[in-house]
Amino acid sequence: MTTEGVHIVVGGFFGDEGKGKIVSYLSLSTRPAAVVRTGATNAGHTVVCCNKKWKLRAVPSGFVYEKARLYIARGALIDKDVFTSEVKELGIKGRIWMDSMTGIITEEHKIKEQTDEHFTKLGSTKTGVGAAMSDRVLRKLKLAKDFPELSEFLTDTQKEILELLESGNHVLIEATQGYWLSLYHGTYPYVTSRDTSACGALSEVGIGPRYVKRITVVFKAYVTRVGTGPLPGELSFEEAKRRGLLEYGTVTGRPRRVAPFNYDLALKAVKANSATDVAITKIDVLFPEARCAKRWEDLPGDAKRWIENIEERLKVPISIIGTGEDVNCVIDRSNELNI
Ligand code: GTP
Ligand code: MG
Repeated sequence: MTTEGVHIVVGGFFGDEGKGKIVSYLSLSTRPAAVVRTGATNAGHTVVCCNKKWKLRAVPSGFVYEKARLYIARGALIDKDVFTSEVKELGIKGRIWMDSMTGIITEEHKIKEQTDEHFTKLGSTKTGVGAAMSDRVLRKLKLAKDFPELSEFLTDTQKEILELLESGNHVLIEATQGYWLSLYHGTYPYVTSRDTSACGALSEVGIGPRYVKRITVVFKAYVTRVGTGPLPGELSFEEAKRRGLLEYGTVTGRPRRVAPFNYDLALKAVKANSATDVAITKIDVLFPEARCAKRWEDLPGDAKRWIENIEERLKVPISIIGTGEDVNCVIDRSNELNI
């Protein structure tokens, strides 16, 4: 199990693979010195732990490990109202920081996305992220240091994370959304406004690849996509419902489009992110008997065969298997696989 260096967790499809759950599980099991959130408030993560359920849009999902320092990356974009209300709700003031140069989304950005036809056409979440990112590219965007009310949360996150790594600590980085929504590598133009790959996450944090020890690409047992853009093998609403695969977006509340697990998309995501291992969530949705199994031996035979087939085709070990909503409903094979 990782004890030092960087571990990056990346989404392998179109986001909502359950990274929130995987990152929160890994923060409890690998005890990182810090957990870093990249991306922006258009990406929601759900964490179910200790009989509670949180829907997060700013705070790193690893907050559940109480000893971890929590950071918002320099390249991230934050809505300060969302940030401050999550910090208050979780009672994590004093252990969460954002970079002085983290970008800030304002009301103006949200209004722009809600009214601009171009953003609607692209299937925007209308959370102001795309509009704020365009301002950043134009060098007009205000940064965290421009807002006195954020001063108590500000630090040089790059410097602090590098110091932790140089002194042999373990840092967990949460990439955002999914590989196929990457501005550069995804289904352009139906993509998000940043690179969502493992390299993109490192770039947002501002550290080089030399520290990276582990790259876990997370897939769900089926594919979902919110909003417009290609989705190979898409099921009709009725078929998705019949198979019990209907989901609604954390941020938008929109029903998600659904397709069966896609090996081609998965293989490309594994290769492009140079995955060391793969996590698969929601096995219990396909195989109800797998519900909250915690050992490989407890999985039904058809679930084992399904997972082994993926492992063979992707040629990368499946280290973590999600078997239920709760952070503890996982089968973790990292130790036996020596990852
Ligand atoms: P990311 O954006 O990748 O972080 O995923 P998400 O958290 O946004 O996904 P979503 O909003 O769809 O929430 C996932 C839901 O599925 C949460 O309620 C999780 O607790 C739950 N979940 C995660 N992993 C599993 C799993 O293995 N089985 C089941 N049944 N539920 C899971
Ligand atoms: Mg999500």
